[in-house]
Amino acid sequence: MNAFIENMPKAELHLHIEGTFEPELMMEIARRNRIALAYNSVEEIKRAYRFSNLQDFLDIYYQGANVLQTEQDFYDLTYHYLKKCAAQNIRHVEIMFDPQTHTSRGIPFKTVIDGITRAMTDAEKNLEVSSLLIMSYLRHLSEEDAFKTLEEALPYKDKICCVGLDSSEKGNPPSKFERVFKKSVEEGFIPLAHAGEEGDASYVREAIELLGVKRIDHGNNAMQDPELVAEIIERDLALTVCPLSNTALKVVDDLKNHPLKKMMDSGLKVTVNSDDPAFFGGHLNDNYIRIQEALNLSTDDLYQLAKNSFIYSFASPEKKKKYLRELDEYFEKHKKFSHNNG
Ligand code: HPA
Ligand code: ZN
Repeated sequence: MNAFIENMPKAELHLHIEGTFEPELMMEIARRNRIALAYNSVEEIKRAYRFSNLQDFLDIYYQGANVLQTEQDFYDLTYHYLKKCAAQNIRHVEIMFDPQTHTSRGIPFKTVIDGITRAMTDAEKNLEVSSLLIMSYLRHLSEEDAFKTLEEALPYKDKICCVGLDSSEKGNPPSKFERVFKKSVEEGFIPLAHAGEEGDASYVREAIELLGVKRIDHGNNAMQDPELVAEIIERDLALTVCPLSNTALKVVDDLKNHPLKKMMDSGLKVTVNSDDPAFFGGHLNDNYIRIQEALNLSTDDLYQLAKNSFIYSFASPEKKKKYLRELDEYFEKHKKFSHNNG
């Protein structure tokens, strides 16, 4: 079953590039930039990755990102992750980046986006992994700051597909960003937002009704409100669920109690994602493998999850068709296995 999952074609739709920063690469970049880290070894860094909530994690995540300085740093970070994608049979990925995490430290927007997009172009050519970019506003900062970021992004409009909303959810509801999202949509960006990770169902409702999101990042807590679940289904909005992130941040106490299967059974369009793989103990295939084991998912469930990842991506219709064909061929080839196990 594990090899079947590993070789299955899939897309990743919820991934923070700063969250792919492995301790080894962090140490290497810190060294070449002559920046002192608060840790002396990879083991020490890994030991610090014990979180009791989202804020604990964010404090360490922003600290790690501080060592990123040059265009080459952003290139290396991104290409390192895209190589992992190729090795996991991830055919397409939608990468979130947090420009404010870098511009607030004096790193130019151009440095960040040039490095990331150069790696994406190389990966499409050399690794056959397609990708697009989601620019996420940090919700713990002001809406005015988000407006400034939007202004900085406009010269790079053709390189950014969507806007998103991440960071500390509680106390920073989607309504705080209603105007900047309206302007972002007018500028041609597709609106997305994290909602219902730590925030309750009302955050998900606001993301849909006030920001007009076309996909919901996490969305677990929508399950608190059956009417909301019906509305999400009616609007055909997919959820980017992140199992290992949820247990690492104690959003869910144990994978065995993860709501993913219940969400699928209630009619929600669910996808599996890694969120911040360097911090949460596993990349995308680990997320699939662990949640399959914990919830005893069938091969039909796996097919549905992988299919959703392509259908609810923002890849071009031609690419979607190609990837969906690959997925169908994969399941056709392994029919006997599927039949025996699911
Ligand atoms: N939630 C909110 N903000 C984030 C996350 C997350 O899981 N990862 C990186 N920024
Ligand atoms: Zn996230």
